[in-house]
Amino acid sequence: MIRPLANLLVTGGAGFIGSAFIRRVLAAQPAMKIVDLDVLTYAGNLDNLADVDPARHVFVRGDIADGALIERLVDEHRIDTIVHFAAESHVDRSIHGPAEFIQTNVLGTMRLLDVVRARPSVHFHHISTDEVYGSLPLGEGVFTEATPYQPNSPYAASKAASDHLVRAWARTYKLSVTTSHASNNYGPYQFPEKLIPLMIANCIEGKPLPVYGDGKNVRDWLHVDDHADAVWEILQRGASGEVYDVGGGNEWANLDLVHCLCDQFAAARGEPASKYRGLITFVTDRPGHDLRYAIAGDKIADQLGWRPKYDFETGLRATIDWYLANPTWIARVKTGAYREWITKHYGA
Ligand code: NAD
Ligand code: DAU
Repeated sequence: MIRPLANLLVTGGAGFIGSAFIRRVLAAQPAMKIVDLDVLTYAGNLDNLADVDPARHVFVRGDIADGALIERLVDEHRIDTIVHFAAESHVDRSIHGPAEFIQTNVLGTMRLLDVVRARPSVHFHHISTDEVYGSLPLGEGVFTEATPYQPNSPYAASKAASDHLVRAWARTYKLSVTTSHASNNYGPYQFPEKLIPLMIANCIEGKPLPVYGDGKNVRDWLHVDDHADAVWEILQRGASGEVYDVGGGNEWANLDLVHCLCDQFAAARGEPASKYRGLITFVTDRPGHDLRYAIAGDKIADQLGWRPKYDFETGLRATIDWYLANPTWIARVKTGAYREWITKHYGA
């Protein structure tokens, strides 16, 4: 079954993954127009979409918790599919302030689902994370779609709660939904608070590279364009009610990754690796720090034929090159200059 996808509403399309999805879909589908609802938190940046045709990208600044606004957008644009990326997404921020995570990730998702509940012909795709499954021991086991939920951070708990809402709304109100759980994404336009862009930004500025704990925690890295392609496959051919795990098949201990990043950064600048490796600083561990994530990925490969295409070291080098070529982007998202622009154009 190929799901007809004519009018898409994307939430969180100004963020890292949502903007990659929009850029890719608009490039591959010349007839498609996308409505993008994003409240533009610190993580949302319209620069990420500067290259897309504004006639095919209808941007609306607004909150996913605003049910009346979503109803209006869905009806006005005859939306047949909602792709829900919008979220508070950074684990460390959730540890310092969980309330916003509950507000957006849980209550916001419920508002969207309630709009779909009143319009059950609309398909809802929920973007979730492998973090809902908890933590794996080093070198043993992988997450599958059948792994029980064991979220360990406020962020992971809020995403787990939203997954449960999606499932329950679908079962109770007979809605058409799909959910994907992706592993750690990397690539251009990622806000420099997550591991890879933070390390690149700090290399550029010659600042310490903070590695939490002993650096042995393992993550499964997935290029953001591979993730966007996986979501597109699920939207088209994913069976309603199904859940798909999307991984990179690419596990790295944090310290090994940071070493690789330092070496590649040095090579990009024609400098000795020791200059950047010397910036590595071990800092206090993240509370409740999950030890290891790893995704099996068999279901999406077998049922939809999707597999990641990126080779990690090539993707990482291209990511480093992108940040080196875009100092203005980094400065704008970091310094608050972009916030001033938003206030001017959209109000506070
Ligand atoms: P991000 O933080 O870069 O972007 C989130 C976007 O959502 C921003 O543009 C922000 O302005 C918007 N947003 C936040 N609250 C909103 C609200 N109340 N209403 C409307 N818009 C709002 O996040 P990301 O890394 O692009 O993650 C996107 C999705 O993918 C999230 O659901 C996240 O949980 C999930 N995910 C992320 C990763 C990863 O490695 N980054 C991996 C797996 C899953
Ligand atoms: O697994 C998917 C998840 O990946 C997504 O759902 C989240 O939205 C995304 O933020 C990410 O969560 P992580 O906590 O794994 O990503 P982060 O980049 O924050 O950290 C990656 C690893 O690096 C983790 O083990 C913590 C460590 N770390 C992170 C930072 C920011 C450091 O050692 N130093 C740092 O400064």
